[in-house]
Amino acid sequence: MKKNFYVTTPIFYVNAAPHVGTAYTLIASDCIARFKEMQGFNVHFLTGTDEHGQKVERKAQELSLTPIQHADKTHVSFLELCQALNISNTDFIRTTEDRHKNYVKDIWQQVEKNGYIYKDKYCGWYSVRDEAFYDEKELIDGKAPTGAAVEWVEEESYFFRLSDFEEKLLKFYEENPSFIEPKSRKNEVISFVKGGLKDLSVSRTTFSWGIPVPNDEKHVMYVWFDALFNYISALQNSEELKEFWPCDVHIVGKDILRFHAVYWPAFLMATGLPLPKKVFAHGWLTNEGQKISKSLGNVIDPFKVAEDFGVDYLRYFLMREITFGNDGDFSENALKTRVNAELVNKIGNLSQRVLTFICNKLKGKLPDLSDLFSRDEELLAMASNSYEQYCNHMENLNFKNAIECITMLADSANEYIDHNPPWNLIKSESTIEQAKNVLGVLCEVIRQIAVMLMPIVPASAEVMLKNLNLTPEDYENLKLELIINKPQIVFPRI
Ligand code: MSP
Repeated sequence: MKKNFYVTTPIFYVNAAPHVGTAYTLIASDCIARFKEMQGFNVHFLTGTDEHGQKVERKAQELSLTPIQHADKTHVSFLELCQALNISNTDFIRTTEDRHKNYVKDIWQQVEKNGYIYKDKYCGWYSVRDEAFYDEKELIDGKAPTGAAVEWVEEESYFFRLSDFEEKLLKFYEENPSFIEPKSRKNEVISFVKGGLKDLSVSRTTFSWGIPVPNDEKHVMYVWFDALFNYISALQNSEELKEFWPCDVHIVGKDILRFHAVYWPAFLMATGLPLPKKVFAHGWLTNEGQKISKSLGNVIDPFKVAEDFGVDYLRYFLMREITFGNDGDFSENALKTRVNAELVNKIGNLSQRVLTFICNKLKGKLPDLSDLFSRDEELLAMASNSYEQYCNHMENLNFKNAIECITMLADSANEYIDHNPPWNLIKSESTIEQAKNVLGVLCEVIRQIAVMLMPIVPASAEVMLKNLNLTPEDYENLKLELIINKPQIVFPRI
């Protein structure tokens, strides 16, 4: 029986159009999902939109729309982005769907019944941009630590007994050392919790765009209480819940780690549901070295980048350039350099040269391997070794190093071809068999490179496989009985 794997992205606020950060999270999650799929897992991959809260309500007001009119309109661009980026999500949830609202209402009642919700009054700072409450002592020059504006809120509110979970959370982090990754971020979370947890306000009365609190409809739920439960509300029936919960990994940006690594497990503990296995926080992207913000006018449109450069080039660049977990920079020049130096020069050329030569000189017949020299065996051994290392890195969400295994293998294959040029070996009767072996070994290496590229640049990898008469479903062995056609160019130069 297939093993299950559940991966999620954050659900995106619909106050603004998708940006390159949205694309980054989606692409990284997609690479994991596709890798696990390739490993034979039954993958559930959830993304969606976070449609309630004051931020969305205010944006709708600005546009003279009702919040639901606004969300109905804007969520579409997130669906379109999934398509444009070739994302393999198996579900897309909107928090305004009944399946979600009904689930969250039930959960609220359960948490309340378990004694973790009480009514009181909230006085303090709130940032609508961050949809977060801040302590006076956290503010810097009158602003949230994120730089967002805060406003004073004084209202009746339901509270979640977060303070009850301080010890339980610390114990959980200790017993589950890989729950928060990367390590550096984990320490931040632990010191935050050790600094003391206050009860969390989980309802608001001064606006109405949210899920009403059961039996007290003057209150709407705090948007994060609502939003986090999407990861479970989307699992539509008890069968799916049994199969996929607890989730294997939540991919989130570092700015929302606290919500996922502190509030979320505490909410779950209050319901008795099992906790997710891992929360991985990735870094933030800058644009040509500058912080991305609307006021600087440097927001990157992922649709445009995907259209200008091709979606696979965008995917490759983001996964290759930045160590997953660290901050990174988006720059068109860096993208061009990476793509041309690696995909085009190292991999595309290799496959093009070898397959064209086989078409021209061997009538498209992939050679059988016989009487291999040690150099041939060495390259084949390196290919399987690279694959093993690649898998380890992918398991650890270390996309950069995983891709480096691919480019290093391509480097070795290029050296091999330079030292044993089949175009020369084929000229003499005595070395014809050697030439065939070299070409056969290279076809095998090209196949392995294509396989490793499948999760990262799925459409291009498919073309690469097709050039070898293989498909993304059937890629495990070269088909020596078939004749290959003139190869299609896989990686055009930018
Ligand atoms: N709605 C919440 C998440 C709820 S999950 C239950 C939210 N939405 S968001 O649209 O503001 O952000 C979605 C994701 O985009 C976050 O993971 C955030 O870190 C990421 N990014 C936003 N800007 C980014 C960059 N400049 N770079 C990389 N990722 C960034 O938060």
